[in-house]
Amino acid sequence: DKGNYAHFMLKEIFEQPIVVAQTLQSYVRPFEGQVALPDFGFDLASINRVTIVACGTSYYAGLVAKYWFEQFARVPVDIDVASEFRYREPVLEKGGLSLFISQSGETADTLAALRHAKSEGQTIAVVVNVPTSSMAREADLMLPTHAGPEIGVASTKAFTCQLAVLAALATNLARDKGRLTADEEKEIVAHLQEAPQALNDALAHDDDIAAMAHLIVPARDVLYLGRGPDYPMALEGALKLKEISYIHAEGYAAGEMKHGPIALIDDNVPVIVLAPSGPLFEKTVSNMQEVRARGGKIVLISDAHGIAEAGEGCMATIEMPQVHPLIAPLVYAVPVQLLAYHVAVLKGTDVDQPRNLAKSVTVE
Ligand code: M6R
Repeated sequence: DKGNYAHFMLKEIFEQPIVVAQTLQSYVRPFEGQVALPDFGFDLASINRVTIVACGTSYYAGLVAKYWFEQFARVPVDIDVASEFRYREPVLEKGGLSLFISQSGETADTLAALRHAKSEGQTIAVVVNVPTSSMAREADLMLPTHAGPEIGVASTKAFTCQLAVLAALATNLARDKGRLTADEEKEIVAHLQEAPQALNDALAHDDDIAAMAHLIVPARDVLYLGRGPDYPMALEGALKLKEISYIHAEGYAAGEMKHGPIALIDDNVPVIVLAPSGPLFEKTVSNMQEVRARGGKIVLISDAHGIAEAGEGCMATIEMPQVHPLIAPLVYAVPVQLLAYHVAVLKGTDVDQPRNLAKSVTVE
């Protein structure tokens, strides 16, 4: 039931504050200021390498998690799209942890990768939204997202719930590896707890996004730029736009622009820049200025501070709440989802059932 919403996708975008809160509830103990995972008799402190495998949007959640695992826990992470994983004959060290991320828990390539890793003696952890799925059943450690059924083919709420679980996992790993003091853990938990309200604040900008979506509709190509954990968010923004509006879009690490893609820039190629305030802001903005100097039309997604500093001369700006860099990827998921949604609605495409796509890809 879509309730009062025109599409399942829009309903699911708006459910995010609630389902992220629900998901966090099973991974944090707010009063103790600690994260808590289900116990599975495997010592996370013994992990020296994590291998992450997933497809599509779930893969982008994994890319964000790579930044977190490495930054907080100092554990090196290998990550692959599932369709590449087995065929490159990955080196899986004994005693390693392999992590599979999937909304459905049934994606054929991801499931085949899981079975391969298992046959190589890896401990198998999964982040899944369907607790009865094949991946859930075959895992040693099942970390459920509590997003509820996701009907729209474009993944939205499952993605932000995956990020919530992965942030908790990264924190737990960091603690068990002795990389976090109790106070640091408390601080991270407090920031995670701010996510649902920040998602609400982000959703409050839906009208602004609907009002500027027409600027993107005529484009044939769109670029998304971000840095650090917001680089995967640029990839996710581009995927959302491609899959439901059929506009060609690419995500790039902002610093890569000058190594090729900047040649594409003219005033017909909108460039959407994800630049939350934080340690990478200045660098991202300087890449944005390089685009602007070549006549590029920019949509800056940032907070009030970032927009005040760098918004001048942009074709449009989208304001997000001021958040800690840890939860920025969750919050910045909202504007890229809403932008894709409103562009698709203006173009009249089938938002919930885009052409050529299925909700669950059960062939390799
Ligand atoms: O069910 P899964 O998370 O394993 O699905 C993976 C991808 O097929 C999925 O994320 C796909 O990319 C979405 N349509 C993106 O919105």
